[in-house]
Amino acid sequence: MKFASRVATTMQSGLDELFTAPDPELISFAGGYPDATMFPQAALQGAFAQATEESAAFQYGDSWGLPRLRRHIAQWLQKDGIPATAQDVLLTQGAQQGIDLAAKMLLNPGDGLVVEAPTYLGALAAFNAYEPQYYEVPMAADGMDLGALQKILMTHKIKMIYTVPDFQNPTGAVMSLAKRKALIALANQYDVIILEDGPYRWLRYQGESLPPLKHFDTQGRVIFLGSMSKILAPSLRLGWMVAAPKLLEAAAALRGASDVESSQLVHRAVALYLEQNDFDAHLDQLRQCYGAKLKLMHHAISAQLPAGYQLSQPAGGFFLWLTAPAGVDMTALQAQRLAPAHVSVVPSKNLTPSHQLLNGARLTFAAPPTAKIEPGSARLTAALAATATAQAHRA
Ligand SMILES: Cc1ncc(COP(=O)(O)O)c(C=O)c1O
Repeated sequence: MKFASRVATTMQSGLDELFTAPDPELISFAGGYPDATMFPQAALQGAFAQATEESAAFQYGDSWGLPRLRRHIAQWLQKDGIPATAQDVLLTQGAQQGIDLAAKMLLNPGDGLVVEAPTYLGALAAFNAYEPQYYEVPMAADGMDLGALQKILMTHKIKMIYTVPDFQNPTGAVMSLAKRKALIALANQYDVIILEDGPYRWLRYQGESLPPLKHFDTQGRVIFLGSMSKILAPSLRLGWMVAAPKLLEAAAALRGASDVESSQLVHRAVALYLEQNDFDAHLDQLRQCYGAKLKLMHHAISAQLPAGYQLSQPAGGFFLWLTAPAGVDMTALQAQRLAPAHVSVVPSKNLTPSHQLLNGARLTFAAPPTAKIEPGSARLTAALAATATAQAHRA
């Protein structure tokens, strides 16, 4: 059997490395899952029960998604600085499908694609299938390094820039307002599409929200992706794309050819949920829960962190970023020290297309039960300290 070349590029993305043999004692800081205790299960149960009373919920529908739900999402996005109407919203199977559709409609093999380094592993997995020419822009605490980006734009033809400006996966960084404006100016100057992936935007635990890149887009070159996965429930597989009509029509045609449409039943249930519940109050509960978990984990780790290690201090999202001293390979450290200590993180190696970034790791505070955060942090810092001591002895 001879597979198409995209099979190898996709299978080598490193996604499978996240799913290793089960360890009953494991405290995982790896998977970017929401806290399962925070799903509004009773309210969703009611909405689904009611949705099944309508026979249309079982029929084929609109490949763009249920108009009623597109309207609700557009109204909600308007409050967030995106001047969208229902026609500007294409409902997708999570933001992941939005990433895939953007790549599918814009990237021919060899086309220039800029990604943040490090970036979201699932985006790389989606992009790999379209065989782009990657360019990596290092991340800073206030978003990607725009000096490095400008150098790339001056010397290479770039089709698209993929960015997660709010509570980036994996670093937790937020792009500053100045950088947001400057990035739009660069995209205008060099005629580049920006793919803005924003699933964590609404999970800010401190400080003021910044407008999305899409807010500053005057030329229809920002494709904005959102998702209910982190703020309602990932199993709904409900995301959205907001983009200029030409882009959205192309994306809708491609999605129609691929999976026809998303579930009408889910769309009806979520529309009912939004109509009958206080979604803003639900979001406030999430912010309280995750804000407290972030504080707990940040304190537990930073209090015991060995010299030479750095921990980020995010204001929202799901992730903390750990930077080990230069020369430390977090993949090896995970296998040799963290796995035996029954704690796991996501090492940085697979979070850049070149696999060159080795001394970082992503830790999530969202998924682990609160009671596991301190013991898991203690296991982690003890394993890091043991490694540092062993290295000092070898030196
Ligand atoms: C930055 C980013 N984009 C997209 C996704 C995919 O989310 P969804 O469940 O909406 O497909 C994730 C999930 O972890 C993510 O972190």
